[in-house]
Amino acid sequence: FVWTAIPVLLVLILFVLTVRTIIAVAAPKSQPTDINVHIIGHQWWWEFDYPDLGVVTANELHIPTGANVHVSLDSVDVIHSFWAPELSHKMDVIPGQTNHLWFEVDRAGTYTGQCAEFCGLNHANMRIRVIADSPADFDTWVKDQQAAAYQPATPDEQKALDLITKGICSNCHTLGDNQAVNPIGPDLTHLASRTSFAGDMYDLNPENLRSWLTDPQAMKPGNDMVVNLTPDQV
Ligand code: CUA
Repeated sequence: FVWTAIPVLLVLILFVLTVRTIIAVAAPKSQPTDINVHIIGHQWWWEFDYPDLGVVTANELHIPTGANVHVSLDSVDVIHSFWAPELSHKMDVIPGQTNHLWFEVDRAGTYTGQCAEFCGLNHANMRIRVIADSPADFDTWVKDQQAAAYQPATPDEQKALDLITKGICSNCHTLGDNQAVNPIGPDLTHLASRTSFAGDMYDLNPENLRSWLTDPQAMKPGNDMVVNLTPDQV
C-alpha cells in the first residue's frame, strides 16, 4: 500500500503544480494590453496582422519594447505552433480555434523562432523573426507600413506593377488597394521593407528574389507558389 500511495501522491503533487503553472503562464498579464497582433499560420510562412494599426506583414514580427503584447493565433490550413523561445512558451496554432498568448520584451533586438508542430514538407522552413524595436523605432516602422504603396517611376516599374496588380500575381497577392482574388500569399505592399522571405528561409535581395520568381518550387518544394515567371518578366 505504501509503495503505491507514495508514487500516486508524487504524481498528484506534480499534476497540481503543472496545472497551476499552465494557468499562470496562459493568463493575460495584469497590465492592460498595449498592442494586439493577429498571427495566422500558413504552410509555410507566418502572417502578422495588427488590427488596430491597419498593418499586415509576413514572417517578421515587429513589436515595441516594454509593451504588453497580446497575440491571437489562427491557422488557415493545418496545425502549426508558434515558438520564439526567448519570448514565451510554445502555443499551438489550430484551424478553427483561436489561441492566445501574452508577452513582453525588454531588450531591443532580433529574436528567432520556429514553427514547433510538424506541418508538412517544409515545416523546418517555417521560421519566425521577431524584431523588438524601441517605441520610437516601432512608431517609425508602423508609419512606413501604413504609407501607401510605392508608385512606379519608370515604364519598367509600371510593367512590373501591372503584373502584380493585374497579372498572374494578383490571384494570390494583395498590393496596396489591389486586393488579391484569393489571398493565399503574403501581402506584397511593403515587401521591400522586410529582410527575408519564404518563411524567413532566404534573405530578401534581388538575386534571391529573381531565383524565387523564376522557380519557387526549386527553392521551397511544395509551397503554394506554383507560377514560374519568365526571365523577361523577372
Ligand atoms: Cu508550421 Cu510546422
